Amino acid sequence: MKKRVYSGIRATGRLHLGNYLGAVKGMLALQDSYDCIFSVVDLHTITVPYDPSVLQGSIQEIVLDYLAAGLDPKKCLLEIQSQVPQHTELAYLFSTIYPVSRLEDLPTYKEKKAQYPKYVNMGLLYYPVLMTADILLYKGELVPVGIDQEPHLEVTREIARKFNSMYPSTGSGSLTFPEPVRFKTNGEHVPSLSGTGKMSKSVEGSYITLTDDLETIRKRLRAAPTDSGTKGGEIPKEGGVANLFKLLELFADNKTNTKYTHDYRQGTIRYADLKEELSQAIYKELAPFQARRKEFEANPKLVESVIEESIRECQKMAEETMKEVRKKMGLE
Ligand code: TYM
Repeated sequence: MKKRVYSGIRATGRLHLGNYLGAVKGMLALQDSYDCIFSVVDLHTITVPYDPSVLQGSIQEIVLDYLAAGLDPKKCLLEIQSQVPQHTELAYLFSTIYPVSRLEDLPTYKEKKAQYPKYVNMGLLYYPVLMTADILLYKGELVPVGIDQEPHLEVTREIARKFNSMYPSTGSGSLTFPEPVRFKTNGEHVPSLSGTGKMSKSVEGSYITLTDDLETIRKRLRAAPTDSGTKGGEIPKEGGVANLFKLLELFADNKTNTKYTHDYRQGTIRYADLKEELSQAIYKELAPFQARRKEFEANPKLVESVIEESIRECQKMAEETMKEVRKKMGLE
């Protein structure tokens, strides 16, 4: 049997280069060889403040981004998390075997708590348990996600281990759940344009979205901080300049990279030129995506039927796992 792959993205607006390089590129690399399920995780989306009146639209945006990026419904299943209710059932069952203290210690929980001090809800604490249920509902073994998700995957492996030991299989002897690992891409950490931290949808000025046109990309890059460019020496390891070089490495060819590295070392770098070449290199990669997206936008009926069919398939697979879990836990 082929290995199963699972990943998901929250519906918090258009995808940005971080989502694309850290997650979607991994999904694309895996869809040919594995059984893949890729999700719009709307239940994770609502753990931070959001606008219910635009949520359905945001979900559709991610579906369109997935299809335009090249996720092919003939090769993988696409789901919307809340339409497969087994996710929440399994998450609840997992919550009965995992300590609260461990969840309170997670860096992602602490960050969100600091970011939204008036919105510290149970769902936020529960986030990694639901993420675990997402993956294990389909017995996913490989998870294409950025490096920021590693602490959550550690929780997933702990829960899988704990479940397997608390509710062992009889008969065949095979374990109920695998211990999933992250599938890494070159862009596992795409830096912020602002010079600190990672590219993120919640930080204005940090990102470029996949639907930005060339002029918007130029504008966003022009605002990225640099230095005087006359110092020379080694390229810094962090900050605005380091981040521009990281993006250059991810998008531009070797010749361009070598040229600007050389110029930096000599103290002759012209950041306006670097930013212009980088804008064009990014846009070159995004232009075919944007053209395909327009085609799918013009064909909502096709998109709807593809998703409906895919979700039906997911529900069947999900119910198989739930039957096994309910039985093992003595609930059936
Ligand atoms: P979300 O929506 O925050 O992020 C979606 C994906 O994009 C990756 N990512 C990045 N990768 C590299 N550099 C960046 N700057 C960057 N910013 C975001 C994230 O690592 C992620 O892969 N918790 C998940 C959603 C989720 C999920 C799951 C993922 C829920 N259930 C089950 C996998 C399996 C998240 O971070 O979504």
